[in-house]
Amino acid sequence: MPKKQDKNRVVSSKESAEEVAFEKNLRPKKLNEYIGQNKVKDNLNIFLQAAKKRGEPIEHVLIHGCPGLGKTTLAHIIANEMGSNIKITSGPAIEKTGDLAAILTNLEKGDILFIDEIHRLNKTIEEVLYPAMEDYSLDIIIGKGPSARTLRLDLPKFTLIGATTRISLISAPLRDRFGASYKLDFYEDEDIQKIINRSAKILDIEIDSDASKLIAERARRTPRVANRLLKRVRDFAQVKADGDVTGNLALDALKLLEIDELGLDEVDRKILMAIIEKFSGGPVGLNTLAAATNEEMDTLEDIYEPFLMQLGFLQRTPRGRTATKRAFEHLGLKPILDKEQNSLL
Ligand code: ADE
Repeated sequence: MPKKQDKNRVVSSKESAEEVAFEKNLRPKKLNEYIGQNKVKDNLNIFLQAAKKRGEPIEHVLIHGCPGLGKTTLAHIIANEMGSNIKITSGPAIEKTGDLAAILTNLEKGDILFIDEIHRLNKTIEEVLYPAMEDYSLDIIIGKGPSARTLRLDLPKFTLIGATTRISLISAPLRDRFGASYKLDFYEDEDIQKIINRSAKILDIEIDSDASKLIAERARRTPRVANRLLKRVRDFAQVKADGDVTGNLALDALKLLEIDELGLDEVDRKILMAIIEKFSGGPVGLNTLAAATNEEMDTLEDIYEPFLMQLGFLQRTPRGRTATKRAFEHLGLKPILDKEQNSLL
């Protein structure tokens, strides 16, 4: 469950339930509508075209990248381009091997099974996936003790698309069973601006280029954040003006939301300030930092840290997290001299 605080956070890359429906409208359906991630698109295009030419289902695909970068969108695009049905589940939703067996035995030839957060599958369930992915067979154990028997069921030729924010948590045997693996990176600001303009058109929002550029600069290079900021700025425009989104208006809206020029909000600042003020700039261990900021460790690691690291504000070192000189400067603080290294942090 996301914390209440996180749900209300405009720049959170976690997706809320109402956003699932909202994003569905905005989601590109075809690969050529998908903005940015050119390397992934080029490779995926060849991969899909080749399978289509051969008239075969595609091999299993692993997609990894930070939250909000478009992993689910890409899975839907793959299904669309292949003309396949897509069934959606997630690692935490599959609690027992029987849950997975039920899903697998309901698939039809050519179907795509999308497992989000696949790194959160438990080990026993993961082992059921191996023969399913490799030989399209399902080994079911019937009975207990000496009379237990294994029953082997044939499965239709399906494609598994796994998505993860944590590639390092995917075991080697699972990783090896994917025919293709794609990494989504943070987007360029120009691509985020294009995504904002595209979304504005779909949502019938009048927005000028100053406004879309400003929102893009503060959207943490993440489409989900960009679409969310666009909605909040539209609210502001409707209440404070005639609904049209101009540069000045977007600036006022973002000020009210307390999102700074780099897209940091109060939670990011709280994390950096904790490292700086409570731990003299670090290093501080992840669990200590989580306790000091009242955030969950997973949330810190998956959601906040990647962007702070991307900005060069936070470093993960073997001894813990440190705030960099740039972070001090951004917060208007004087960097602390590192006595051991006799250099600025
Ligand atoms: N909406 C979310 N991600 C997108 C992308 N990469 N391209 C176009 N629209 C998007």
